[in-house]
Amino acid sequence: MCGIIGYCGVGPAFPYLFEGLKKLEYRGYDSAGVEVGGRVIKRAGSVDGLKNAETAGLAGRCGIGHTRWATHGAPSAVNAHPESSGPVHLVHNGMLENYAVLRAELPGRYPFVSDTDTESAAHCIRAGIDGGESLLAATWRAADRLKGSFAFLVTSDLEPETICGIRRNSPLVVGTGERGVFLASDIAAIAEHCEEIFSLDNEESVLVRPDGPRFFGPDRREIRKASIRFDKNYEKVGFEGYSCFMEKEIHEVGEGFLQTCLGLKNQMKGMPAELFRPKRLLFCGCGTAYHACRLGKKLMERLVRIPCEAVLASEADEEDLPVDGETLCVFVSQSGETADTISALRVCKKLGGRTLAVTNVVQSSLEDLADFTLKTHAGREFAVASTKAYVAQSGFFYLLAEKLAGGLPVSMDLEALKAGMEACVDLSEIRALAGEMKGESYAFFLGRGLDHLTAMEASLKCKEITYIHSEAYAAGELKHGTLALIEPGSRVILFVTQRKWQEKMMNTLSEVRARGARTVLLSPFSDLEDCGADRFIRLPAFPDLYMPLISIVPCQSLAFRLSRERGIDCDKPRNLAKSVTVE
Ligand code: G6P
Repeated sequence: MCGIIGYCGVGPAFPYLFEGLKKLEYRGYDSAGVEVGGRVIKRAGSVDGLKNAETAGLAGRCGIGHTRWATHGAPSAVNAHPESSGPVHLVHNGMLENYAVLRAELPGRYPFVSDTDTESAAHCIRAGIDGGESLLAATWRAADRLKGSFAFLVTSDLEPETICGIRRNSPLVVGTGERGVFLASDIAAIAEHCEEIFSLDNEESVLVRPDGPRFFGPDRREIRKASIRFDKNYEKVGFEGYSCFMEKEIHEVGEGFLQTCLGLKNQMKGMPAELFRPKRLLFCGCGTAYHACRLGKKLMERLVRIPCEAVLASEADEEDLPVDGETLCVFVSQSGETADTISALRVCKKLGGRTLAVTNVVQSSLEDLADFTLKTHAGREFAVASTKAYVAQSGFFYLLAEKLAGGLPVSMDLEALKAGMEACVDLSEIRALAGEMKGESYAFFLGRGLDHLTAMEASLKCKEITYIHSEAYAAGELKHGTLALIEPGSRVILFVTQRKWQEKMMNTLSEVRARGARTVLLSPFSDLEDCGADRFIRLPAFPDLYMPLISIVPCQSLAFRLSRERGIDCDKPRNLAKSVTVE
């Protein structure tokens, strides 16, 4: 999985490729490469490594580029794309499933030099070209032999100033503008240079020359495609005075929540009423979005009482899913491009479920596939660890509960909640805690009921960007096993925002203190200030039901501060990508 970019036009290609790759780094950033005018330059490390004396000399007006998140083969220069075979150069987003079979089948005259799945595709295309086929025909033939997912951009030294693109289950867009034709995994990478953008459907392909693109359908006949709507300025986002995207995005949590709730109320009004009368609910997502789904499930259980499952998208198995025509299946994704979530949506559709995508970016594959879409308005996230999108997704679930139950037990004061979130963005106690925790190697996050769900998301933030191992636990369950791990100095962070669980949480606090743990308690209840925790972090007070929207914010901020203390680039933590486009 990765980001791919192509350019063919009147200007030098490299600057467009480089700039586009920078915008695609959210899809991976462990190695990068370009091919311009037949010269291939690849580097381990992020896209910035491509700006060097070698690439400064690239004058060609046509080229392809790639930023990688390693699936097959280590993140090294040799495994970086473009993969080449003779005259053929190819960049790939996706994952090939039958690459090992192809490796075994391909004749010995095409020696493999990398450990990637992609190289087999480059050899397949070369085999066609060696047999006298054009680049396009050879790419088609190779695509027919391949299993798995791919968006390819392919060039051949034998057909200069030509790029061939084709896709199956990985996105590919083509844009045209004054300076030429642009191709990319995502509109964001090319929008500002384009007047028109076309989104390829599965199995469609495109042949790009400086004078424009020609599109072909799955049957390989030439087709006309309609351009899609897009916002030219959509991606002009910077740090805006903050030190990085994550810091900026945490500061936007409150506004994103407010805009999301206001926007969703309107959007929901325009949807068919019967969509909100399901017999069953299924919520599905990955990572942080899954945690929002877990919160959603808890809210449904408490407030709506319709059977509800929260399912990890990667675990969505046709054989097990409780989905039928009366099930509303909700797929939550910031990017709308997460391959596991897309695949789960396909499974639920097959089972007859009604599918609703809840996405944050302007346009996405998930929304193309779903029966209905609702947009969160958190503003696009760039930092790998999700913050403002999580709170916006949580806001969606409160509104869904309200819609399905016909009201909420206490009304949701959106402006007050926004102010409460903002008050938690930069607490001095959190700064101090980050300084204290910077040398630690593990932490436990504990809570009961709604607080357990906050603990899960807080723990994920900690792992993602601080590399401190952490566990989230339902506090009452600790004594049934995990308590064995608590020893003098263990870091234990407890959430106590639910009055009904307060006494039991105090028992947990005593149990871990008795074993020498260093404890932090986050709570809006002032009467707990002297409860014996080493640190008490006072949260703004709201009805217990809404506390998950508040209590996660200082934890996002803690993770950010800790990553800073530990010298980690929180926008691009190791081994991760913002959008995981392979299953
Ligand atoms: C990746 C990101 C996570 C994110 C997850 C789901 O793993 O690193 O931060 O929560 O994908 O992303 P989505 O775009 O579907 O919400």
